[in-house]
Amino acid sequence: MLNYWHLIAVMNFYCITDDRNPTTNKLLFEACQKRNINFVKIVGKEYDMSLSVDLGTNDLLYRVGTRQESIIVEKLLLNLKCVSLYDDYLTGVKKPVNVIESSILHLKAHIPIPKTIFALTNNRKLLLKYVEQLDGFPLIIKAAGGSHGVGVIKVDSAETLFSLADYLLVHDNNDFILREYIDYVHHARLIVLGNKVIDSIEYKRVRGDFRSNVGHELEVNKKKFTDVIEESAVKAVHSLGWEFGGVDVLIDKNGNHYLIEVNMPCFFPRCQMITGTDIAGMMIGYLLEKAKSWSKQL
Ligand SMILES: Nc1ncnc2c1ncn2[C@@H]1O[C@H](COP(=O)(O)OP(=O)(O)O)[C@@H](O)[C@H]1O
Ligand SMILES: [Mg+2]
Repeated sequence: MLNYWHLIAVMNFYCITDDRNPTTNKLLFEACQKRNINFVKIVGKEYDMSLSVDLGTNDLLYRVGTRQESIIVEKLLLNLKCVSLYDDYLTGVKKPVNVIESSILHLKAHIPIPKTIFALTNNRKLLLKYVEQLDGFPLIIKAAGGSHGVGVIKVDSAETLFSLADYLLVHDNNDFILREYIDYVHHARLIVLGNKVIDSIEYKRVRGDFRSNVGHELEVNKKKFTDVIEESAVKAVHSLGWEFGGVDVLIDKNGNHYLIEVNMPCFFPRCQMITGTDIAGMMIGYLLEKAKSWSKQL
């Protein structure tokens, strides 16, 4: 039910998008409509960067788009007053953190991650030492900044590792980590909002590829994971200063879990459409509650 505060305040939801994500936009739009919130769509590529916009305490903000222009618009709009899914607006301004920085933060927060070496080398002696530390072949090389499994490479031999490292480091741009290969039986995607996992699904392993998130016909189903896994997911999102995120976790046959990454923005409609959980509504509801609690403090 709406309370008095909702009736007097005209709330706006700024949805920063690339317009490549119509489903996400639609779900968020509908969630705003249901709550009488003004939906303001900003397409990053079309935004007038010369504008100086000062958002206030009635302005909620979430970035759906991942294009550079959308990322910049979000940074420009974030301020002390507007309400976002970051613990502090500066966290959003400094984003994106890549897989290297975020995995280091996860390690420091004692969240289980696959054994990781945080920079590639083409020094063969060092590489062989790393292979031993990562429990031998196969191992994973992951490039920072990839998505949908692109840039996640499985390496099966020293010959491949040496030649690949020479090639990847040719531009002196070391954006690669080396990781232990996890022979997982489940790949979990958990959606964290605030202090809770609000939804979760499982990606089935696909035939002919070790990456479970590659291809158009992904097999996914609703699945709830253990409290321990849910706790790791919440902790992982918080360790980055975020209040929302799509968390990827691999689980092996012994039930051990390994957090591989946190995504924000994330394609939450995949979960919402399979499980029926109103994630968009919960996100808008969460932002509203946050705005309400801030307005009480003023
Ligand atoms: N250490 C690993 N061991 C085994 N498989 C992995 C490992 N890391 C990633 N994968 C596989 O590759 C996929 C993509 O990896 P992820 O780190 O989530 O990158 P992306 O950002 O591309 O989604 C995962 O869904 C998983 O199936
Ligand atoms: Mg992933």
